[in-house]
Amino acid sequence: MKKKLAIIAVLGITTLGFSATEDIRTTAHNLSTYSDPAQGGTNEICVFCHTPHGANSDFNGAPLWNKPIDTTVTFQVYGGGQTTAGTEVGQPGDTSRACLSCHDGVSGVNVIINAPGDNYDPNGIYLDYRGSTQPWKMPLSFAIGRNAAGGYYDLRDDHPVGVVYTEGRADLRPPSTPITGWNISGDKDGSGGPSIGDLLRNGKVECVSCHNPHLNAPRFLRSGDGNTNSNLCTTCHNK
Ligand code: HEC
Ligand code: HEC
Ligand code: HEC
Ligand code: HEC
Repeated sequence: MKKKLAIIAVLGITTLGFSATEDIRTTAHNLSTYSDPAQGGTNEICVFCHTPHGANSDFNGAPLWNKPIDTTVTFQVYGGGQTTAGTEVGQPGDTSRACLSCHDGVSGVNVIINAPGDNYDPNGIYLDYRGSTQPWKMPLSFAIGRNAAGGYYDLRDDHPVGVVYTEGRADLRPPSTPITGWNISGDKDGSGGPSIGDLLRNGKVECVSCHNPHLNAPRFLRSGDGNTNSNLCTTCHNK
């Protein structure tokens, strides 16, 4: 009996310890791993996305963003701009555009504005990445903005982003619903604890609702257990 309890206790600790922490160094988002300083690359990690100075101030979605982003691009959106329930699907919000500035499949993953050293160019400088100082484009399987026919700027085949999380719908849990095991940065909705509302940006679902780009977790998923039993989906969807 004692032994059984001990095993349960250990399992309990393992489950608690499962929730991932923010440590980008050992993730796919440590782009410096592939840079060769001798070729003009860098061992810096944050620089591929953020800069302490000279950031892209046209862009409010991600703090101190270090990439030139073409905000004039129009994406084709999920459902032609409407979900089955009739909710409007808008253009991806600024945080999603931040992801898409690499994951659109068109933009150079290695283009930044403020490069290490005194190298600044608002139109972009190409850092050495995997031995290339040319635009290094996202491989097919990670190019979210690419469609099966090879076209770009297409989000029709992806979970809607830029979509309002409608309150009071029976099939969506209330945004104030507390959630456990998720990695949340800050009490964004002021509810006092981790809740669905903290996953939203301007009340909308964006890429960062499900992913945290710094998180040391498979697929950068914020839900502590990936998508086991579709827990990630049923956190929001009452299905
Ligand atoms: C691959 C791109 C990427 C890299 C690399 C990256 N970040 Fe971020 N960072 C983001 C995005 C996108 C956001 C906005 C996240 C959100 O809204 O949830 C963000 C937000 C932040 C924030 C605001 C608080 C938060 O978590 O929302 C801080 C602070 C931050 N990053 C620090 C860092 C530091 C320090 C590094 C390097 C160790 C780093 N980031 C590397 C993309 C990146
Ligand atoms: C600076 C460029 C850059 C930005 C910005 C960026 N990513 Fe990535 N991301 C990458 C690269 C490079 C990979 C790895 C591709 C490969 O392995 O070939 C990757 C991989 C991923 C993966 C797969 C990870 C895995 O281990 O399977 C996910 C999920 C992902 N990114 C989500 C995001 C999200 C969400 C955002 C915005 C919050 C974002 N990324 C912003 C460059 C970027
Ligand atoms: C509703 C939640 C959700 C949203 C919103 C979301 N993702 Fe994902 N994403 C996932 C899940 C779950 C996976 C893991 C799928 C798997 O492993 O099969 C994933 C996988 C990925 C991958 C790995 C390649 C792949 O296709 O499996 C990338 C890259 C990625 N997401 C980027 C993004 C970007 C960029 C956005 C915003 C445009 C975004 N995601 C929005 C849930 C989401
Ligand atoms: C952060 C909350 C959240 C998470 C997590 C989430 N969704 Fe959604 N999802 C939404 C919202 C909000 C909508 C838009 C609903 C509406 O108003 O029609 C939506 C829309 C959808 C739609 C389109 C419905 C339509 O009417 O066209 C499908 C399908 C869907 N989600 C499936 C999933 C799946 C599968 C997962 C897990 C991989 C997932 N969702 C995770 C919030 C979420």
